[in-house]
Amino acid sequence: MLKDSFGRIHDYLRISLTDNCNFRCSYCMPVEEMEWMPQSKLMSKEEILKLAETFVSLGVKKIRLTGGEPLVRKEFPEILAGIAKMNVETTITTNGVLIHKHIQGLKDAGVRSVNVSLDTLNREKFQKLTRRDQFDQVWNNILLLLQEGFRVKVNAVALHGMIEEEICDFVRITEKLPLHIRFIEFMPFSGNHWNSQKVVTAAQMLELVKTEFDVTKLEDQKHDTAKKYQVPGFVGTFAFITTMSEHFCGDCNRLRLTADGKIKNCLFGKEELDLLAALRSGQEVIPLIEKSVARKHAALGGQFSQDYLKADPDKIDNRSMITIGG
Ligand code: GTP
Ligand code: 5AD
Ligand code: SF4
Repeated sequence: MLKDSFGRIHDYLRISLTDNCNFRCSYCMPVEEMEWMPQSKLMSKEEILKLAETFVSLGVKKIRLTGGEPLVRKEFPEILAGIAKMNVETTITTNGVLIHKHIQGLKDAGVRSVNVSLDTLNREKFQKLTRRDQFDQVWNNILLLLQEGFRVKVNAVALHGMIEEEICDFVRITEKLPLHIRFIEFMPFSGNHWNSQKVVTAAQMLELVKTEFDVTKLEDQKHDTAKKYQVPGFVGTFAFITTMSEHFCGDCNRLRLTADGKIKNCLFGKEELDLLAALRSGQEVIPLIEKSVARKHAALGGQFSQDYLKADPDKIDNRSMITIGG
């Protein structure tokens, strides 16, 4: 069991399959063109499965595949099938654009829930943000997932100037569609030009929603990243991921494995231990995993002061989001 010094049990692993993505959202990858990791530095399919198995032997019960965009990894179907055999809840976070090619594979692997990133419902804004004209493809794939019986969460990063205009449109679509929309407070990562003025907080967003809708607070589950709400009578729900205004680190159960095989004990944890190097040189990886968990900070990787909404982005040392996977 992976218990840290604060008694938190870590049973949810997020594995990044690649740092590559077929979109180009500037809040996620450095605006300056990124250099992708060379193939030789990425975990191979076999290495991913071996490390995943090791985590499962240590008590991991849920594995989320992320990226970059996990579906651009060529061996995605084989990796998914391999993980699915491990008797864990398996799931993915994706930008949705390639989902139609993987529906059967997801079903065969027993995946029941898929998280799709979509920050705007407006085709032109989508193109500006992602630098790809693929809104329709993503939207059709969200509908396809629903049709095929998946539980679908939509992740919308609350981008200042955009979310204010669109938040009610997002909530409105939960009237007829059983989508679970999660508005995510904008977080600072290397190269994404974060500053506190760009954060629209959950409280501010809720006020905007209330100008148009009555809302009910729903009960949150342990380990949830999101605080859930619903408009009475609507079939879907909406929620806020409040990392910047009210972190939820107290019952964190998450560990991360980057595409180059480093364990990160926190989204904001700058200390990484190289599991892939250990695996390749025939050393034991379990002691490294245990060491990483033991060193985990109480909150936010120990990188933020008390007033973390006003954090100084220059003082936060981390990878870019695209190389972490969320
Ligand atoms: P569920 O398992 O469906 O609840 O998904 P999730 O929220 O764990 O994962 P997802 O990949 O959909 O992430 C949605 C947003 O939550 C992203 O912006 C993530 O960066 C953020 N997020 C996920 N895990 C953590 C975490 O451990 N800490 C913080 N602060 N944010 C997280
Ligand atoms: N702040 C908040 N969420 C982000 N994501 C990517 N970058 C950021 C950021 N700077 C979201 C993506 C995806 C999830 C894994 O993380 O939109 O839905
Ligand atoms: Fe866990 Fe770090 Fe996320 Fe807090 S910021 S919930 S400690 S991963």
